[in-house]
Amino acid sequence: LASIDVDLAPVEEGQAITVMWRGKPIFIRHRTAEEVEAAKDVKLSELPDQLARNANLADTAPATDTNRAATDKEPWLVMIGICTHLGCIPQGQSVGSYKGEYGGWYCPCHGSQYDTAGRIRKGPAPENMYIPPYAFTSDTKIKIG
Ligand code: FES
Repeated sequence: LASIDVDLAPVEEGQAITVMWRGKPIFIRHRTAEEVEAAKDVKLSELPDQLARNANLADTAPATDTNRAATDKEPWLVMIGICTHLGCIPQGQSVGSYKGEYGGWYCPCHGSQYDTAGRIRKGPAPENMYIPPYAFTSDTKIKIG
């Protein structure tokens, strides 16, 4: 399928779901206010990869939380759940799973740590996890692809 529709209505704050799109896991997280604040508090200069890696924005867009999150719906983060080191699938999607030192995701293969905006913070991964092309088609639905 070229594109998929996902209903986000059942995904409560603090929860995450994974859907498949073009054979890739897409991580969708309904972030808490604390998670959004934590991501906003980070200075760009602290980031190993300072680009947003967001297919919906220009290639040069900086990796601010606003540029990583859904447009005008900042609690929502939608990204390709593949570690940019060697392609493992990071942990951190399920409630209670280890989310790493930065509260986002942790790649068990070689220890990359991602923050609550899916940005690489520590470890061998060179880039932030990628944001796929997507858009909200209603208040609670998105189309990916
Ligand atoms: Fe994720 Fe190596 S594949 S750290």
